[in-house]
Amino acid sequence: MGQKLWTAVDRYISERLIPSDAALDETQRASLRAGFPSFDVAPNQGKMLHLLARIREAKKILEIGTFSGYSAIWLARALPPDGKLVSLELDPKNAAVASANLARAGLSSLVEIRTGQALKSLSKLYDEGAGPFDLVFIDADKRNHPAYLEWALRLSRPGTVIVADNVVREGAVLDAKHPDPDIQGVRRFCEILAKEPRLDATALQTVGSKGHDGFCLALVVR
Ligand code: DHB
Ligand code: MG
Repeated sequence: MGQKLWTAVDRYISERLIPSDAALDETQRASLRAGFPSFDVAPNQGKMLHLLARIREAKKILEIGTFSGYSAIWLARALPPDGKLVSLELDPKNAAVASANLARAGLSSLVEIRTGQALKSLSKLYDEGAGPFDLVFIDADKRNHPAYLEWALRLSRPGTVIVADNVVREGAVLDAKHPDPDIQGVRRFCEILAKEPRLDATALQTVGSKGHDGFCLALVVR
């Protein structure tokens, strides 16, 4: 029971609904080769992001936290040929791996990876007038979830969808006195969501191959 069962059910879902795909499989292999920890979203979560972007008919997507580029592949595949995904990554090593993975998936022309501190890149995007984005996926350092949400709002319009990963963390989010700044970041993120009149939001706990965590979905309403 527990993790073994969750992983088996994720496999059952993925085998049926998410056909095997050379670019995605090779991206996961490249992460293993690079010795990356398993921070990527699961295949069924990646497809959820992809479908949300298609439902939104997103032409401009912002991702905060590129990591291996696995979720970027799912998001970019939802874009029309004149669409664009801007993905922000702190670590140049991750950005290089992601860039190679996106190239292998034939998506380089749709995706711009910006390397450096996301908070700086976000400020620069704002100054450039890069928004509004149709969908924003927040999946970087969790201590900065609240600041990323503020920037996501600045770079949004009514109708923008904001998704945030890792909002449950095996239930650690319940612990008001948790010493980990990442957990405190997620808690503050939830508090902002609760009182921000420009957002209407929910969150779902998820269990699966990535353990027990959660996805937050918010809609910019004004
Ligand atoms: C971690 C980060 C993630 O984005 C994730 O999905 C899982 C784990 C981490 O930093 O531990
Ligand atoms: Mg994540």
